Amino acid sequence: MQHQYIQDFAQYEDGTEITIKGWIDKARNSKTNHFFDFRDGTGFTQCIVSLDTVGEEAFEQAKRLTIESSVSFTGKILRNERSLGGYELQVTTFEIYHIATDFPITKTDKEHGPNFLEERRHLWLRRRRQWAINRVRNQLIMGIHEFFQQDGFVQMDAPLMTGSACEGTTDLFETDFFGQPAYLSQSGQLYAEAMAMAMNKVYTFGPTFRSEKSNTPRHLAEFWMIEPEVAFATNEDNMVLIERFIKHVIARVLDKCQTEFELLGRDTSKLQAVVDGDFPQVSYSDAVKILNGSMDVDGKNAIALQEEDLAAAKALIEAHQQEIADREKAIKAGMKKGARKHSEQVIAKLQAEIKVAEEQLRNIPKWIESAKNFEHGEDLGSSDETVLTRVFSTPVMVYNWPTKIKAFYMKEVEGQPEFVKGVDLLAPDGFGEIIGGSERETDINILLKKIEEHELDQADFEWYLDLRRFGSVPHAGFGLGLERLVRWSCDLHHVRETIPFPRRYGHIKP
Ligand code: 4AD
Ligand code: MG
Repeated sequence: MQHQYIQDFAQYEDGTEITIKGWIDKARNSKTNHFFDFRDGTGFTQCIVSLDTVGEEAFEQAKRLTIESSVSFTGKILRNERSLGGYELQVTTFEIYHIATDFPITKTDKEHGPNFLEERRHLWLRRRRQWAINRVRNQLIMGIHEFFQQDGFVQMDAPLMTGSACEGTTDLFETDFFGQPAYLSQSGQLYAEAMAMAMNKVYTFGPTFRSEKSNTPRHLAEFWMIEPEVAFATNEDNMVLIERFIKHVIARVLDKCQTEFELLGRDTSKLQAVVDGDFPQVSYSDAVKILNGSMDVDGKNAIALQEEDLAAAKALIEAHQQEIADREKAIKAGMKKGARKHSEQVIAKLQAEIKVAEEQLRNIPKWIESAKNFEHGEDLGSSDETVLTRVFSTPVMVYNWPTKIKAFYMKEVEGQPEFVKGVDLLAPDGFGEIIGGSERETDINILLKKIEEHELDQADFEWYLDLRRFGSVPHAGFGLGLERLVRWSCDLHHVRETIPFPRRYGHIKP
């Protein structure tokens, strides 16, 4: 039988009879009405089963519909601004597919805790936040393909089983390939470079693997990377491409995902500022000065801002604690039920904000310490990126990195072999690195030297060196971590929510 989808509700007039098939998200029963928050995967709506309309027997049946029971509802659609999703369905008939018992996820994410939820990821995916995140992810993916396809890039699939390392040998997942060692791909870049010599502009879009034993909010062992590679491009061209690309995909999700961002509580004005602004380009050496406070940006000092944030966190805690005490006193003195409930909700919110501020009190002094003592030549850590980006409201590009901390294939800066033409894009608000890229070394002798210095086996790279033997051209590219982009776009604390089934250190099930 033909049925309809919640996402198409706007096209029906009030009173139209439709059928929707889906799951019960929440149930509230009274003597004369059952109110169901209902989801069909395309959206959320409210369905009302009234004793008057369906009769006693059906009304009793509908009472059995627990959370996550699956059902088909037929009824009349009605606009109602105050209803979930802006509509309600007055049910006339229904058909039950399955009655679910004791669905384990009934409380808020906070109440359940992340471990409980991650272990039940196959069910957690049904909750509203996860629904919204995965829809944003989908639109980001579409935006990425749209950008490159419109720009004349050819999508290519790089191998996932590889015979050589791209990003250093420390975090390789090794496997057995018919008796020979092979590795799960860390990056499709080297293959993209080969393909760029055949197609000029290419991009890969595929899973990549890193056996990093880091249990952090931004590291996955399996993540999706998008890697464009462009022939006849310099690192300056690379930075122009990065800025156009990020603005395009962010503009697209702002356009397509309003409902999702609202549900996530994402401050979209910050994303709009990214689309409207210019991405600053800062050399690594200047980034170090900004970080340790010896250089200002538009009158802003990174260390001073952290100190201000610290003072603000302290003030917030004091003010909130005072308000909580006042409210608790008032509750004790006696209050009407409604007012009391409201006050308790406010207290819970204030307490949550205190927790965040307390975390800042613990972190910021450490960050300041690390930023002040940062030495030229080191790699930026996560907290350093947070401090550095605090002076910017758009992502910032850091270019010309110390040769020692970057991969073997990056091109040396002319006359300054201690620097390479790499670029990292750091997202604001503590999200940090989402892109890493570079212009590639074309001098075969420098490459041979680097391969040796990085203790790589030259034989594994002969095919790669061929690219410098036959029609070598300047070329550049970058890699975007999809989950890092989703995390930033949706303003999520942890990368575990950015992919349907996260694979990260210590977590492989479900
Ligand atoms: O900076 P990375 O290691 O660069 C490369 O792999 C280059 N071959 C890219 C290129 O030039 N074609 O990784 C690129 C991006 C990072 O900026 C980050 O967004 C993401 O990949 N990434 C990770 N995301 C999640 N979990 C991890 N463990 C990640 N490691 C890197
Ligand atoms: Mg990197």
